[in-house]
Amino acid sequence: MRRLPPEAAHRASLLALKAGLGPRFACTSEVLRTDLCGLSLPNPVGLAAGFDKDAEVAGAMLAAGFGFVECGSVTPRPQPGNPKPRLFRLPRDKAVINRMGFNNKGLDNFAANLHATRQNPGMIGANLGANKDSADRVADYVTGLERLWGMCDYFTINISSPNTPGLRDLQGADALDDLLGRVSEARQKLSGDAPSPPVFLKVAPDLDPARIERIVEAVRTYGISGIIISNTTISRPDGLKSRHRDEAGGLSGKPLFSLSTKVLQEFAQASAGVVPLIGVGGIGSGADAYTKIRAGASAVQLYTALIYKGPGLIRAICHDLEARLKADGFAHIREAIGTL
Ligand SMILES: Cc1cc2nc3c(=O)[nH]c(=O)nc-3n(C[C@H](O)[C@H](O)[C@H](O)COP(=O)(O)O)c2cc1C
Repeated sequence: MRRLPPEAAHRASLLALKAGLGPRFACTSEVLRTDLCGLSLPNPVGLAAGFDKDAEVAGAMLAAGFGFVECGSVTPRPQPGNPKPRLFRLPRDKAVINRMGFNNKGLDNFAANLHATRQNPGMIGANLGANKDSADRVADYVTGLERLWGMCDYFTINISSPNTPGLRDLQGADALDDLLGRVSEARQKLSGDAPSPPVFLKVAPDLDPARIERIVEAVRTYGISGIIISNTTISRPDGLKSRHRDEAGGLSGKPLFSLSTKVLQEFAQASAGVVPLIGVGGIGSGADAYTKIRAGASAVQLYTALIYKGPGLIRAICHDLEARLKADGFAHIREAIGTL
């Protein structure tokens, strides 16, 4: 796969998974089986958004051992994304830079794919985005909720992709109040008296402490279920060695680990353990997943490490995570959350 250009390799992976050629692993550890905002997960290691933008292979990724799978980002209308090339491997840094720009086939196609995959057991989330040319971006998130309501197990409001100009401004105080206010109103309308599926907010790692406090406050005010920390970074940590390190876009993988874990810890402090957090960014081993959990994550997600280590990574992470928990005297993953 690594001999192919990155996007071709990605497409080939999706085709192989669709053809049933993916690996199979079922985690049966009672130490790792957990609950995230009412979602029952066989293990806390999820697939992050961006791998399966159109919900084509969620079943295969659950069968490969992920504890939950987040599809998307999906926007109401299909859009082509940015001109190619827009995805770059940084092999010497075990990283990737992408400026895909929410390329996806839109909500109708996503819904049809989700419908076809629903006979698979396991938790599938829909990560919602906004069209680049949308006049009312907040309305796009509400449209996503309405269109996919009842079809997935949770939603993520993604306001942190760096490749849709202005999207991350929704993390600012007034814009966030408007967004979360309208999302929670739609959620109440859609659920009526029935319980609502969890709705998470996905944030960038490039946030200062004042902004973090404000986001936590808004999340609590509007009843958002949890926060996913983090998306890719627009920063470029010192010491990147690979040829493509100066490409524009969001950086993910190993060099994102320390920044995203620091921001996760700041969110854990700001929310005093009250808001469930999902840790993402640079996880490539059981040790990394364990560090995120101890920094305050109730569950974790990964994407970039799959590119370098392949899908056998999920089994390795689950086994290593269980061994580390036991070695430190934790009877269950729950006990380790926020103990760093
Ligand atoms: C090629 C690529 C595409 C991505 N697309 C999305 C996306 O559509 N929506 C989103 O919320 N995150 C997207 N992400 C971000 C990932 O979900 C994740 O937050 C980030 O890559 C950090 O995790 P990692 O270091 O394990 O990859 C994308 C990441 C990559 C590498």
